[in-house]
Amino acid sequence: MPHTIVIFGASGDLTSRKLVPALYNLMRAGDLPAHTRILGFSRTPMSDDEWRASLRESTAKHAGGDPLDDASWARFAACVHYQPGDIGSADDFQRLAVRLETLEGAAETVRVYYLATAPQFYESVVAALGAHGMATETHGPRRIVVEKPFGTDLTTARALNAHLHGAFRESQVFRIDHYLGKESVQNILALRFANTIFEPVWNRRYIDHVQITVAEEVAVGRRGAYYDQAGVLRDMFQNHLLQLLMVTAMEAPVRFQSTAVRNEKVKVLEAIRPLEPAEVAAAGVRGQYRGYLREPGVPPDSQTATFGAVRLEIDNWRWQGVPFYLRSGKLMSCRTTQIVIGFRQPPLELFAGGRRTPHREANRLVIQIQPAEGIQLHFHTKVPGEGMNLRLTDLEFSYSREFAGRLPEAYEPLLLDVMTGDASLFARADEVEKSWEIIDPFVRGWGSPDMPPIAAYEPGDWGPMACVEWMAAQGRSWFDQCPVLT
Ligand code: BG6
Repeated sequence: MPHTIVIFGASGDLTSRKLVPALYNLMRAGDLPAHTRILGFSRTPMSDDEWRASLRESTAKHAGGDPLDDASWARFAACVHYQPGDIGSADDFQRLAVRLETLEGAAETVRVYYLATAPQFYESVVAALGAHGMATETHGPRRIVVEKPFGTDLTTARALNAHLHGAFRESQVFRIDHYLGKESVQNILALRFANTIFEPVWNRRYIDHVQITVAEEVAVGRRGAYYDQAGVLRDMFQNHLLQLLMVTAMEAPVRFQSTAVRNEKVKVLEAIRPLEPAEVAAAGVRGQYRGYLREPGVPPDSQTATFGAVRLEIDNWRWQGVPFYLRSGKLMSCRTTQIVIGFRQPPLELFAGGRRTPHREANRLVIQIQPAEGIQLHFHTKVPGEGMNLRLTDLEFSYSREFAGRLPEAYEPLLLDVMTGDASLFARADEVEKSWEIIDPFVRGWGSPDMPPIAAYEPGDWGPMACVEWMAAQGRSWFDQCPVLT
């Protein structure tokens, strides 16, 4: 069946930096289904050729891999079309419907509507698609992809879900989180459920705690106006960090199929202990990098957190008593996303030579999501020579050493999944609502006038000093290493 991808917000950043380069790479690799066409829709008046020319420039910059070659670009550009129009105009939507009918003819077609607009337009697009009968599936499947942010709290997320369900069935809705498209995130499922050696120790009996860190080197920069409203909790925790937590903590699904996978993920969220307002302050630390207040669009007295760390407890048989520490921040020491599984100390210290038990680092499994993807297992080894002197060493798996070639960008597998209708790696309505239920108390708590002023951190630090002290007070320390794998 032919496919049409309709991109709303065609002249925006997401389209030129991520979506079109991903589609181009899929086509170049021969992975894009035959007879796929792309139709861009936005207000900018442009012809098909003008849009193609501007995409050629941006794709050359953002596609990665080999330089753009004329022959593959020409093949790709032939599938690209553009329709100018205003989301708020019924006439323009009617013209869009007619253009689609002209392009598709009588053939049954899988149509994917991609919301790459600013979030305030999501509801208008959905309403217009519904009103023009463009969500009904009489001429082939119709699917809609919704980008983050999915609402700004539980109430707005519920309203957006209700709105979507006014025009589309849940099975037509694909809420995207690009973290789930990352190879190394999907590999967590392979690591856990395609091997027998990890699952037996993947529980409260052997694991002391889990640290999930998404550290970024970039500042807020030009995104100040958006970011100051969002802050790190809405920008990173409600989506990316909770997704990483879910794949780390979930039970094995009964089969690798979207309902089964998503059921298990939602169960993790359901098991996260809800916090009373009075508990929020002790369950996390917030920070703001020095210089944030000078970013364009940021009010000079902003208390928005550009760094956050929170502790979540999962009340189920596997994880009872094992805290999950989540942290993320802008302008930190380096770019690294990692999940550190911190194991317990051995029950008996044999090699202390009669001295008091030395404080030895416990075993760790470091899953490095980016920038260099891989896994490292830290364990103790005897140092050659006299006596039982031990040192921490590691076993390592690195994607770049193991597999030749470039890893697909996160959007590539996700776009293919939408085209084939596989929703396993997309958030379900109940999943986003549960995520907000977990994050909302922190947003409210951190935004409360009763909170002490936000702690500052220097650019290049691992967050404020208060965060180190907070962890130390719990008898633990952060694994502050810039990428363990390079
Ligand atoms: C986005 C956030 O969703 O993810 C950005 O809005 C953040 O603030 C980005 O920089 C991080 O994505 P990645 O793939 O670079 O880790």
